[in-house]
Amino acid sequence: MSDDRWLATTLSVGAAVVGAVVAFRRQLAQRAPVAQSLQHQVHVVTGANTGLGFATSRELAKRGASVVMVCRSREKCDAAAGRIRRALAVQRGAVAGSVTTATCDLASRDSIAAFVAEALPAAVPGGAIDALVNNAGLMSGKKFGEDVVDGVDATVRTNHCGPAALTLRVLAAFDVRRCVVVASRLEKRGRVGEVLEGGTPDASAYAVSKQMNLLFARELAKRRPETLTVSCTPGMVNTELGRYHPLFALAAPLRHALLPTPAAGCGSIVHAATAPDLAPGGYYAKATAGGFEAVAPSPDARDDALAARLWDRTAEWNAAGGGGAALFARVPLDGCARGEDL
Ligand SMILES: NC(=O)c1ccc[n+]([C@@H]2O[C@H](COP(=O)([O-])OP(=O)(O)OC[C@H]3O[C@@H](n4cnc5c(N)ncnc54)[C@H](OP(=O)(O)O)[C@@H]3O)[C@@H](O)[C@H]2O)c1
Repeated sequence: MSDDRWLATTLSVGAAVVGAVVAFRRQLAQRAPVAQSLQHQVHVVTGANTGLGFATSRELAKRGASVVMVCRSREKCDAAAGRIRRALAVQRGAVAGSVTTATCDLASRDSIAAFVAEALPAAVPGGAIDALVNNAGLMSGKKFGEDVVDGVDATVRTNHCGPAALTLRVLAAFDVRRCVVVASRLEKRGRVGEVLEGGTPDASAYAVSKQMNLLFARELAKRRPETLTVSCTPGMVNTELGRYHPLFALAAPLRHALLPTPAAGCGSIVHAATAPDLAPGGYYAKATAGGFEAVAPSPDARDDALAARLWDRTAEWNAAGGGGAALFARVPLDGCARGEDL
């Protein structure tokens, strides 16, 4: 092959690859829709120091909201808030909002109690919250029941027990207009039914916890109609979620090339937190044709009886003081947040 032909072929193949990558990223991206001003609104976002929580906080604040960024590390929270404040300071056009910070470790019952009793009232003196965004999450890469800390699966504790306890405590103490639960399409592999039967299904702890998120949101929407409860799934986004996977660092070039950034991927969360016309209990994702649409969770995650059982088990376990009674027969939630109001 002549040099010219070789060069032309290389350039065409290169252009085709770049085009395919750009198209793929565009397909996954779900930028937040241009929306109404959020001035005078208060949004509370967990897991706000990085990934989708950070991007969501920035997006909400750019539109005028007062955002309470909730993180487990004070240093990371302050650094993230500083980055957003610098962006807001040079923002043109729309009136920028503001960010404040508060710490809460969702794996710790004491930390959740202190957050709701002290940090949140200080950050939200008026007591009204337009949206509580339960975004924080952990993907340990472990199977359900493989990593049990203080009697509870560590991922379930952080992704389900902690957020559930935090939500119910916040709902009891504040005027919350909307509650957003960030789930994942991986919930369809969750098999919560088997877990509640005392089994240890061959499922990742993450999938189990994400199906629990949807079941919790479903039951909450029914039990608390005065608060709009909705769920969403952001799709695949290039965040730190896979940080515990051994190949996470190695796969960085691939992730950067193929997946949307958190800024380009937080749209469904912002939509769930702000769109005016959402259905109670709805589950939202990016629509193929652009925009966002209600999607159906897996059959298990829309099983009303299962949602009620998960709720009741939590309540039973809590009523027993969290000591003897097990939420899950095999992997008790001993040590899971046991708020009095759970
Ligand atoms: N990225 C995706 O492709 C994808 C897809 C579907 C759903 N999601 C969901 O999106 C949400 C955000 O995830 P992400 O992708 O942005 O992941 P990420 O970059 O890893 O961010 C997760 C956030 O959760 C926080 N967190 C973890 N454990 C915590 C704990 N015990 N207490 C308080 N905060 C804790 C992390 O804090 P530290 O930084 O201190 O650990 C971090 O701020 C999760 O619920 C996830 O399930 C993500």
